[in-house]
Amino acid sequence: MRKAETKNGNSLAAGKKVLKNSQTGDMAAASAKNQIEMDCYMERFHRHSDELRWLYMELYDNGSMFAELCENMRSFYRERGEDLKALDQSREKRPDWYKQNDMLGMMFYIDNFAGNMKGVEEKLEYLETCNVNYIHLMPFLDTPKGRSDGGYAVSDFRRVQEKLGTMEDLESLTAACHKKNINVCMDFVMNHTSEDHEWARRARQGEGEYMSRYFFFDNYDIPAQYERTVPQVFPTTAPGNFTWLPDIGHYVMTTFYPYQWDLNYKNPRVFNEMMYHFLFLANRGIDIVRIDAVPYIWKELNTQCRNLPKVHTIVRLMRLISEIVCPGILLLGEVVMEPEKVVPYFGTVEKPECHMLYNVTTMATTWHTVATRDVGLLKKQLDIVNSLPKEYLFLNYLRCHDDIGWGLDYNTLKMGGIEERPHKKYLNDYFQGYIDGSCSRGELYNADPVTGDARFCGTTASMCGIEKAGFEQDEEGMERAIRKDLMLHAYMFMQSGIPVLYSGDEIGQVNDYSYKEDMDKAADSRYIHRGAMNWELAKRVKDSSTIEGKIFMGLNQLEQIRRQECVFVSQADTWTIETWDPGVLCIGRYYNGEKLIGLFNFCELDRTAWIDEEDGDYTDLISGKRMKAKGVDIPAYGYYYLKKDKE
Ligand code: GLC
Repeated sequence: MRKAETKNGNSLAAGKKVLKNSQTGDMAAASAKNQIEMDCYMERFHRHSDELRWLYMELYDNGSMFAELCENMRSFYRERGEDLKALDQSREKRPDWYKQNDMLGMMFYIDNFAGNMKGVEEKLEYLETCNVNYIHLMPFLDTPKGRSDGGYAVSDFRRVQEKLGTMEDLESLTAACHKKNINVCMDFVMNHTSEDHEWARRARQGEGEYMSRYFFFDNYDIPAQYERTVPQVFPTTAPGNFTWLPDIGHYVMTTFYPYQWDLNYKNPRVFNEMMYHFLFLANRGIDIVRIDAVPYIWKELNTQCRNLPKVHTIVRLMRLISEIVCPGILLLGEVVMEPEKVVPYFGTVEKPECHMLYNVTTMATTWHTVATRDVGLLKKQLDIVNSLPKEYLFLNYLRCHDDIGWGLDYNTLKMGGIEERPHKKYLNDYFQGYIDGSCSRGELYNADPVTGDARFCGTTASMCGIEKAGFEQDEEGMERAIRKDLMLHAYMFMQSGIPVLYSGDEIGQVNDYSYKEDMDKAADSRYIHRGAMNWELAKRVKDSSTIEGKIFMGLNQLEQIRRQECVFVSQADTWTIETWDPGVLCIGRYYNGEKLIGLFNFCELDRTAWIDEEDGDYTDLISGKRMKAKGVDIPAYGYYYLKKDKE
């Protein structure tokens, strides 16, 4: 008995010892791991710290704020989850991870798509059937009801809107997405905060510290000077760039809506705090950060307050900060400007800024081509994009949540006798369906009575004629509209860069006019194309006799081809080819010995594309037909993906 006791006692003691040893072992292993991780952080920090300090000092000349920034960067790194750190490391080893031919995005409003974040998590399988591996969750942070600008007026950068879920739900969603290799994109609205944000509330109470985070003026002298040079973003729905606050007798700068107060990045406190929010959100598992309205973030009197050099300093600082703390994430700049203003946001090859930018001029030019059935300008625009370094990655799209501004190359159009003002009117009339031969439906946005300018809103399907044909029960018109819709997607997939679908487009969702009954939305016609996903219609995606099925399956085929063919990687050569027919666009792609020719008929008549590609046989990947790439007959709104046979 005693023996046994002793034995047991001994073994207990031994057990404790083993436990203790293994605990010390675990602790030692953990601390060694921490050390390795910290070394990895320090290595990145040292790689970039000179430039980081240099730029920060140039902007703020404030050593203690810089030290605070560095201290916080380190804390955010420590707080970053193990899985995310591992992802960072693997992405650092494959810096081209996001430039492959499998990348396909989809953007949606969480409530429209699936009610809330949990709902989105339940819909990941649907997204997989759409071949999507990148989702852009439209703004979901706290925002005041009725004064939200679709969520772009953030009142708390660390809280999810209650109706959509919680930060934990976001983390759970990003983790679930990562398990399925889906990347998650979110907006970082850094130009302004909502007037309900704590800083704004305290500023409104007269706290100087917080007033200095915005632009306040106690009389109209300086605002008047700004107004002389600063254009308006919302000339009809929110005219002017300043808002009078009678309660405190001050004007505040509001480039967008009066409830969106512009932040003053001359104040280093603003920059630092916004960077902490950025890192906090990155640590929730975000892969792609869309920097909202980035050209606007620096203001100077007597300028347009857009694209100023210091904007680039800030973006470069952000890039350096993310390279150090969370190198796996990508920066997507929202620069809705003419091409020469857009491209600088890539930075240089040695000092990059954004990883990706929207191909906005190409998008607008695409719709111009639909309305004019003349591919001339589009060809020129694609040639400009194709001549840029391959490191510059564009995000291609047909429609997004915003209006289409007619930012076209009017100098070129002028040479063909087309003037800006009447042409914008023509495009708006065409897409509203006022012009003979137009089957489009949609509404104007911010029609400015002074300049005569107006932008346009509508879904892809409605702009292609699906709404009209459906309403008129015009079967032939419907076939034509579906073909046009698919042709536009096929062409969009051929462009160099990453394609992003607008949720609902995969089933041909048409305009939603119900926003007019909602007081909070009625004044903003962008809501016409922000309708809720119709899951009843989505049930038909496998039925090829339905509109939804035809579009979904047509897209699915294109998506499969894109994934299979290496010519769709971003590094491929992309160029345009003359077709000698104004209605037909031809794009070539070449990569690693493989060649693909895309032909797209933008007009309602059958055409012949007089391309004369070199001898050899081609196979149309869409129909499987063997063809020659010479004098190709192409039906109305038809499209081919001609792949050159291997010799
Ligand atoms: C961006 C958004 C737009 C919003 C604006 C102001 O342009 O895309 O929807 O109104 O920023 O935040």
